[in-house]
Amino acid sequence: MNRVFSGAQPSGNMHLGNYLGAFRNWVGLQDDYECIYCVVDMHAITVWQDPAELVAQTREAAAAYIASGVDPEKSILFNQSQVAGHAELAWVFNCVARIGWLNRMTQFKDKAGKNREKASAGLYVYPNLMAADILLYLATHVPVGEDQKQHLELTRDVAQKFNHDYDTELFPIVEPIIMGEGARIMSLRDGTKKMSKSDPSEYSRINLNDDADTLAQKIRKAKTDPELLPAKADELEGRPEAQNLIGIYAALSARSRDEICLEYEGKGFGDVKKGLTEVVVDKLAPITEEMARLQKDNAYIDSILRDGAERARAIAEPVMADVRKAVGF
Ligand code: ADP
Ligand code: NA
Repeated sequence: MNRVFSGAQPSGNMHLGNYLGAFRNWVGLQDDYECIYCVVDMHAITVWQDPAELVAQTREAAAAYIASGVDPEKSILFNQSQVAGHAELAWVFNCVARIGWLNRMTQFKDKAGKNREKASAGLYVYPNLMAADILLYLATHVPVGEDQKQHLELTRDVAQKFNHDYDTELFPIVEPIIMGEGARIMSLRDGTKKMSKSDPSEYSRINLNDDADTLAQKIRKAKTDPELLPAKADELEGRPEAQNLIGIYAALSARSRDEICLEYEGKGFGDVKKGLTEVVVDKLAPITEEMARLQKDNAYIDSILRDGAERARAIAEPVMADVRKAVGF
């Protein structure tokens, strides 16, 4: 059976972008693939994380996966730091990947900002750790959003170069599972930036654990323009905030962007926001409730993660044995 690997960083609250761009899609893959869903806490510390918060956010991420429909019996759910193979393989890949490859990664440039000298070395080699995450399990498929395409290319390059340099066929060349257009959810404050945990503005994102009042307030404050709704979604061109809100509306209501536009044709965003709030509250409330229920029981979440790590290790260890043999360790 083909194997999927994916994960999210416990670097803050899980948000609507994570849900629509990742978690919701992961659920559907469980029937057709052997799925490994990881809370990538080692990636999270590429930027400073308060230790107590990291523990809480790791549990929150696991709760979000489960509340979104990831089945921890069917799929493997664990946190990255508990399987030593991630770090070990990442080191080997640090020695396989070329500095030139890393220099081309746009996410490093975005995340490091202007003061690149002050970024952690981990942030720079992050793509090699991501390659290790995937290849440690010989995963064949990775669901990717737009933001991760370049990293997946690097994973393919690393696998190819390792196989070539060590004269082996150990690593598969992973295939992306491209998530539908509309999977990229933008900030509510700036339609040109993606919704992200690392955005300092709380009002830029909808968190999966926001209560109904907070959701309503965030949507009310979302940036829009004074234009009215056109009859067709195509005509929203050049209006990124409007496109984003209609995109979220469509994604959560399983209707097309055109249908939403037609419903609100000639109306302003005040009306759209009212309808959107209803849809968001309606779709997220069950997830928020389930997350809250799960998060009351840390022992349960910890036991899921422990069990998942054990199952992950069982797959990873023979692969690492082959890696060590190939390298000469
Ligand atoms: P963040 O950028 O908030 O730290 P992660 O890097 O942990 O999120 O991403 C976890 C998963 O969620 C990835 O599959 C990523 O593609 C997806 N994702 C994150 N932000 C968005 C977004 N704004 N729109 C769509 N998908 C997203
Ligand atoms: Na990210």
